[in-house]
Amino acid sequence: MPTQKSLEQEARRILRANDRGGFTIPTAGLYPFQWLWDAGFTALGWMQFDEKRAWQELKTLFRGQWENGMLPHIVFHRPEATYFPGPERWGVARTPPTSAITQPPVVATFVRWMLERAQDRALAEAEAKSLYPHLLAYHRWFKRERDPDNTGLVTVLHPWETGADNSPAWDQPLARVAVDPALPPYTRRDTAHVDPSQRPHQAEYDRFLTLLEVYKRASFDQLRLLSVCPFRVASLLIDCVLHRANRDLLWLAQRLGFGHQAEIAGWLEASRKGIESLWEEEAGLYFNRDLISREPLRVGVSASFLPLYAGTASPERAERLGHTLQGWASQVRYLVPSTDPQSPFFEPQRYWRGPVWAVVNYLIALGFREYGHEQIAERIRQDTLKLCKVGGFSEYFHPLTGQGLGGRAFSWTAAIYLAWNGWGG
Ligand code: DGY
Repeated sequence: MPTQKSLEQEARRILRANDRGGFTIPTAGLYPFQWLWDAGFTALGWMQFDEKRAWQELKTLFRGQWENGMLPHIVFHRPEATYFPGPERWGVARTPPTSAITQPPVVATFVRWMLERAQDRALAEAEAKSLYPHLLAYHRWFKRERDPDNTGLVTVLHPWETGADNSPAWDQPLARVAVDPALPPYTRRDTAHVDPSQRPHQAEYDRFLTLLEVYKRASFDQLRLLSVCPFRVASLLIDCVLHRANRDLLWLAQRLGFGHQAEIAGWLEASRKGIESLWEEEAGLYFNRDLISREPLRVGVSASFLPLYAGTASPERAERLGHTLQGWASQVRYLVPSTDPQSPFFEPQRYWRGPVWAVVNYLIALGFREYGHEQIAERIRQDTLKLCKVGGFSEYFHPLTGQGLGGRAFSWTAAIYLAWNGWGG
């Protein structure tokens, strides 16, 4: 069995091997570009042994930021043929080319943590100060173009934006997307790298790609898409991560001497109410919501625990979430499965339909810890470290057997291992 020391060495080796000069790919072949939330988590890993490189990761990510503030979920820094859909399919005329959707906005929070814990204080101050205006522009974009009516919940236009691409939470809203009969033909690349039983189904891919054509026809006009896009949901992954990111943006504004406090505080007031409106008393969980039918998407997913990370839940709701997670724990060996293991949609090996993801565990555990649920937080941390030991630094893990699934030598899993050992709980 590998030791903690040898695993840390291996984790560092993975980040170095995946470094493409200023940005880190998630894993070779399957994901050969820079992804938004991967870059955030990966920066936390770099921070444990190379602070300069950690800040570089975020600076490089922002090279992809649009003039309207949107931070795209993929930046195609250089051509690679092993991934689909690449820049040609997205059709975004920019340098560097990017996708046209976003992903969970973890960065402001991580900039705060990096600033608070940096050894090189001067570097951290300078980097945080220069990133701040870009973070503000990004968060303003969310408010202006994805919640123009100030509902407190952001409208998400693609399952890829949520990060949890094929979560059963999206089954119903995605079923409403009629596959474009004129969908240009395509060849998936993901199933050449990973066993298809661990990846989304073809029917989902056809819809993922259909949505790209919808955006192109609307010239990526967000306000127009808010009424014409056939997929529109409120996602706990986006709303909770954004709420915390706004709390941390407010902290950064105060700490670094920028104004904007009242503006950000207004966003927080709205999103607190928005997130808490997703609570379902009977289930003891938060559910995502379909923003077309306005109905809750009643399937328990790992993101259902993220209002703890956001900090919007009351102590009573935190307590209920703890009980709910105990129920899940009795069904699986490793926490936290991405789907409720008692759900008929639970598939323990298929991407976001059951496997455990180290990055989500990091956020959930932090939430439980901050609400004083130390035992369950520590259980999640220990399970994650154990999974890295038994399943390698894989993209995700089987919650019953611990088997490593998806991509191998995966940057964000290695980064979480380093951060959890380096910074502690
Ligand atoms: C993929 O291609 O699987 C990604 O999750 C989309 O960003």
